[in-house]
Amino acid sequence: MEKFHIAIDGPAGSGKTTVAKRLAKRLGFEYLDTGAMYRAVALFLHENGIPPEDEDRINEVLSRSRMSFHCGRLFLNGREMGEEIRTAEVGILASTYAKIPIVRKHLTRLQREIADSRKIVVEGRDIGTVVLPDAELKIFLTASVEERARRRWRELAKKGENVSYEVILKQLKVRDDQDSKREIAPLKPAEDAIVIDTTKVTVEEVVGRIIELVEERSK
Ligand code: DC
Repeated sequence: MEKFHIAIDGPAGSGKTTVAKRLAKRLGFEYLDTGAMYRAVALFLHENGIPPEDEDRINEVLSRSRMSFHCGRLFLNGREMGEEIRTAEVGILASTYAKIPIVRKHLTRLQREIADSRKIVVEGRDIGTVVLPDAELKIFLTASVEERARRRWRELAKKGENVSYEVILKQLKVRDDQDSKREIAPLKPAEDAIVIDTTKVTVEEVVGRIIELVEERSK
């Protein structure tokens, strides 16, 4: 098997990252987290005082920037973008900058270059619809917004962050709204995507189901 692209799309907290990482490991595929790319760019632009409205400057800055991955770590202009891009605030910033066409253009091109002729699991919002429309397998994960908020809350609590469930629920709703109503590449399942509701199933069950689909499609 030469190239095999698996697109995993879905809203925040649907289980994309856990499922995509585990799937890549089980299959021996590479893994690309496109949300991290949007988060890194958003934090960088924000820190440099470049607002989402200033498309010319964003274009100039992104044309001069270099994003790279080494052993699963993401670097932007030589700086590692680690835990600082994982906060809820950066999630909202990312969702806001992700509406800007020039940001999407730069990142989409880079994502296609990375995936190119590889065996790779790519997770995001528009992978099956825009970035890799010819992906061999497209999965769209969903879960109720309450369940997704509970998962985020548990994740943050584990890290020792003390955020209320209500605040997380509200932030998720803002992001769902921004991500699914934007004009370009909105969050939605591709026509040929397989939709899996993860509200009441375990990660292992979801991964197992996707592996069955990969086996069927590689025949
Ligand atoms: O998956 P995540 O929560 O790390 O993504 C952060 C934000 O980035 C998300 O709210 C919208 C944006 N994003 C996007 O627009 N397209 C992608 N392919 C991935 C993320």
